[in-house]
Amino acid sequence: MNRPAPMLRAHCEPLDSLDPLTALRRQFVWDEPQRLRFDGNSIGPMSLQARQAFDLVASQWHEQARFGWSRCGWFEAPLRMGDKLGVLLGAGEGQVVVCDSTSLNLHKALSLAMTARPGGGVVLMQAGGFPTDEYVAQGLCLPTSGFTLERLAGDEQALMARLARGGVAILCLSHTDYRSGERLDMARLCEQARQCGALTLFDLSHSAGAGALFLDDCGVDFAVGCGYKYLGGGPGAPGFLYVARRHQHLHRPAPWGWMGHENPLAFESDYKAHPGMRAHLVGTPGVIANVVMEAALDHWLGLDLAALWVRRAALAKTFIATLDALLPDTGLQLVTPREAQRQGGFLALRHPDAAALVERFEQAGLIISHRPPDVMRFAISPLVHRHVDVFDALVLLGAQMRGRTVPL
Ligand SMILES: Cc1ncc(COP(=O)(O)O)c(C=O)c1O
Repeated sequence: MNRPAPMLRAHCEPLDSLDPLTALRRQFVWDEPQRLRFDGNSIGPMSLQARQAFDLVASQWHEQARFGWSRCGWFEAPLRMGDKLGVLLGAGEGQVVVCDSTSLNLHKALSLAMTARPGGGVVLMQAGGFPTDEYVAQGLCLPTSGFTLERLAGDEQALMARLARGGVAILCLSHTDYRSGERLDMARLCEQARQCGALTLFDLSHSAGAGALFLDDCGVDFAVGCGYKYLGGGPGAPGFLYVARRHQHLHRPAPWGWMGHENPLAFESDYKAHPGMRAHLVGTPGVIANVVMEAALDHWLGLDLAALWVRRAALAKTFIATLDALLPDTGLQLVTPREAQRQGGFLALRHPDAAALVERFEQAGLIISHRPPDVMRFAISPLVHRHVDVFDALVLLGAQMRGRTVPL
């Protein structure tokens, strides 16, 4: 390959060859020599284990015709998967359930938080968060609810100051912002919220599977997130809900459905919530999606998570070093913080022509995502990306912006 700045690429090669985790990419369906994929949209990489799950679910379907649901473990899957995912979230057993969409789980979590604050108050969010979070909060903070939605146009420091002024009942945040990629300091915000009498609810969609999380240790009250991004559960995979054990006496899940009943198979006429996380299930789980999601989670649990987070940080460092070295004159602005602990699953660059550029890069073989108006997102995965991929992506990007082509 004919690459500019060969010294820098040569610097990346040993970072890959000396790291045993580079071999992990062989456990993924990732055979695309003509494309550099950094798509931060909605589909994480497909592990071979997840791929094989499609055959597994087909054979289970065939089997269940003879043996019923119990034989395949479908009924318990949402809670079983929740405990597996808990390892990645820093959540002890019995506090996570994998089910439904993030939006619906957010509705459940915010409803529960409101139940825990019967006196009402302010639901505090950051302005410009992911739309579904804003819509769910708007839908619940109706004038009759006793809660007022306040969207603060400000950073973490402004959130801390607003909490200190009082009146906030629930702090509802995206842990990693979907546009800037900035990851908030969860421990710091939780501590401040606790001191100011507010409950915490985090959307972890751009954090889960992208770095270490410590929900129990931070004292998070509620959390939700997507299964189809960095966790690799496949298109439309179920989301998840975390309810800290101390709130599990609030058995007022929304909505009520038979799968959340204390005894679903007794077919009783009156609703009685299950005492544990099962209460947050509503209807029949999406079995096919769950089987694939569970295979993805099992793949995660076979990995050295601490080493993976170190590799993610190292890949991000290569991205930023290459950006600084090769692209100082292209008008690109790094929006994500440079410190690894302030990053989630992607790095974001700002450029006024972002939309057109992302299309142009795609035609040249570099797949990234665009968020209006001017952000380009590079999802960097320690599971599949190498340092040389990061380097090549930025070389291609720079060449395209200067009107040249670089062969892949
Ligand atoms: C922060 C955040 N929350 C929620 C969602 C999506 O929620 P749902 O799975 O309900 O579509 C996304 C999707 O990209 C997101 O980025």
